[in-house]
Amino acid sequence: MILEAFLAEKSQKTKQALLAYLDQCDGIPDELDEAIRYSLFAGGKFIRPILSLGAAEMVSGDDAVALPVACAMEMIHTYSLIHDDLPYMDDDNLRRGLPTLHVAYGDAMALLAGDSLLTMAFGLLGSTGDAGLVTEVAHAVGASGMIAGQTMDHCSEGVELDVDTLKKIHAQKTGSLIRISIRSGARVAGASEKELSALTSYGESIGLAFQIIDDLLDVIGNVEELGKTPGSDAARGKATFPALIGMEKTRSLAERTVDDAVKTLAVFGGEADPFRELARYVIERTR
Ligand code: IPE
Ligand code: IPE
Ligand code: MG
Ligand code: MG
Ligand code: MG
Repeated sequence: MILEAFLAEKSQKTKQALLAYLDQCDGIPDELDEAIRYSLFAGGKFIRPILSLGAAEMVSGDDAVALPVACAMEMIHTYSLIHDDLPYMDDDNLRRGLPTLHVAYGDAMALLAGDSLLTMAFGLLGSTGDAGLVTEVAHAVGASGMIAGQTMDHCSEGVELDVDTLKKIHAQKTGSLIRISIRSGARVAGASEKELSALTSYGESIGLAFQIIDDLLDVIGNVEELGKTPGSDAARGKATFPALIGMEKTRSLAERTVDDAVKTLAVFGGEADPFRELARYVIERTR
């Protein structure tokens, strides 16, 4: 119950801030603006901005300072999904319960909306005046971070990998953004080195667990709840944990990873309870 209220409050704040941001942007062509809003407000879970705001609140008691960062993280995430779904990438037709952006608006508009979201995100990060933050995020989501993971994922279709390589792909393609969402929220709220380091380890663990469960849901999930088409990974011969080690071992790996995440929060008191619950949610979720 505590968690539900926490998730609802943080996602609502993010949505309002994203709407306000887009409303004050001048000069976006109508079709592009429509495409951006179509994807951004299709009904995602807003986990990354929730993590940014939650980290800021844990550290300073207030999440307002992290709103630009939270919006930037959701923009980067949404761009990554739009491009991930493209026909020459994962070639998926359903996202967040709606036709994917390229299906609804065409491939070109999907590329352009993704380009716009990524660029806007860095504009927002720059507005914090923290150049170190911009550099850190660029590193996390760029060619040696999230896109490195996406590249390895793409190049591994039909290839059998070992567990450590697959963990690395998952840590990069999904873990990097989750980790930096938490770090950035904590950073702008003035986290100490000790807090930052604990939250970073937490982010690494839940980031990996998040993708392990994403793999699992692609096998056992149902289309209505998931809002995307199950079986997509198997159809493309993706390297996933269920394919590599089976369902049972995948589940227990995710559980162990989340236990690690919760342990790293030991340096915090009751203010970390939402993050403790959120770690459990990552493995119990059905969407
Ligand atoms: C899906 O992320 C893609 C991954 C990186 C695993 P989410 O499950 O957070 O998707 P939305 O934002 O809720 O749609
Ligand atoms: C997506 O991983 C990771 C990024 C977009 C960076 P997946 O390809 O497994 O995500 P879904 O299952 O399409 O949401
Ligand atoms: Mg993919
Ligand atoms: Mg995909
Ligand atoms: Mg997936």
